[in-house]
Amino acid sequence: LITPVILSGGSGTRLWPLSRSKRPKQLLALTGVETMLQMTAGRCVEGGLFGKPLVVTNTDHAGDIERQLSAIGHQPLAIITEPAGRNTAPAIALAAIEARADAALLVMPSDHVIRDVAAFHAAIERALPLVDDGWLVTFGIAPDAPETGYGYIQRGEEISAGTHRVAAFVEKPDRARAQAYMDEGNYSWNGGIFLFRADAYLAALSRHAPEIARVAHESMARASRDGAIIAPDRETFLSSPAESIDYAIMEKDDRVAVVPVEMGWSDVGSWDALHGLAPGDQDGNVISGDVVALDTAHCLIRGEGVVVTTVGVRDLIVVATRDAVMILPRGKSQEVKRVVEQLKNRA
Ligand code: GDD
Ligand code: MG
Repeated sequence: LITPVILSGGSGTRLWPLSRSKRPKQLLALTGVETMLQMTAGRCVEGGLFGKPLVVTNTDHAGDIERQLSAIGHQPLAIITEPAGRNTAPAIALAAIEARADAALLVMPSDHVIRDVAAFHAAIERALPLVDDGWLVTFGIAPDAPETGYGYIQRGEEISAGTHRVAAFVEKPDRARAQAYMDEGNYSWNGGIFLFRADAYLAALSRHAPEIARVAHESMARASRDGAIIAPDRETFLSSPAESIDYAIMEKDDRVAVVPVEMGWSDVGSWDALHGLAPGDQDGNVISGDVVALDTAHCLIRGEGVVVTTVGVRDLIVVATRDAVMILPRGKSQEVKRVVEQLKNRA
């Protein structure tokens, strides 16, 4: 049985003003009635391939997570709480220490969309024999633009049908290199979803980032437990170096494999991405909340707790909450992070 490990640590500033630090993207319903977290858990229902999930999250969100999972009838194996984020390498280490050494861990971000769950499961089954052999497996997405926010994976020789050795892993290359990788054709994006045995991960961590491994073990040895909630020792965990699994391990290890998969993946990294994901009405608008849109086309309009009205506009993104309104043209939603920076500087 695979143990799903759900990472819920992001603050999701790219979907401001809807996502906030108290209400990050994964706890919001962005594409339907379920939240991103609920949809993530729903892809790995207990039974068949999967056992109960482990969730790793910030202390502040543990209550919301427990409620959201129980609302869809899921009971986590445990919710491991971090006093503050130290990025994904330490977060995954906590889960790996809690799991059985021989457990296969399916590490998933809590804020991605996967349209074709059957294709996802088929890719997992292709990867399992490699996982038993101690490989660290990641899933590769066919790139469609030279995005600089992803890891790029050069596919090497085939290991088995539909699985490849990773020839090179480059986390977040600059624009020119991203374009060069696109042009070469044998690169995948790293989907940020990983599959490996708990002991294989911890061994790789000890090799490449021994301090992260040491701190994770020590903080879990002194963890306090309250029902399903596991709190690693605060001071110890806070002393961990902050590094992502991508930089700490995937770029460095040589037993890394990639399983390319077409599964309708999106990391919903922007309002434009969200607009592109939804089918849209007959005018190409994606509307949610209390909205009156007249002579309006190809817009994303969202009103949370307020009425939003538009007349005679097109190609806009309009997001209004009770305390903030954001308007920008479609295609410019990467600029949201500038807005958030500006607001932080002001505060
Ligand atoms: N629990 C916990 N603690 N979760 C965390 C932490 C942390 O400190 N930091 C990040 N996460 C969670 C985020 O909530 C998200 O679900 C996931 O881990 C990945 O973190 P991101 O911050 O979103 O990573 P990224 O988008 O910059 O890059 C990663 O994902 C890309 C695909 O979306 C990398 O794996 C890239 O290589 C990959 O292409
Ligand atoms: Mg991300």
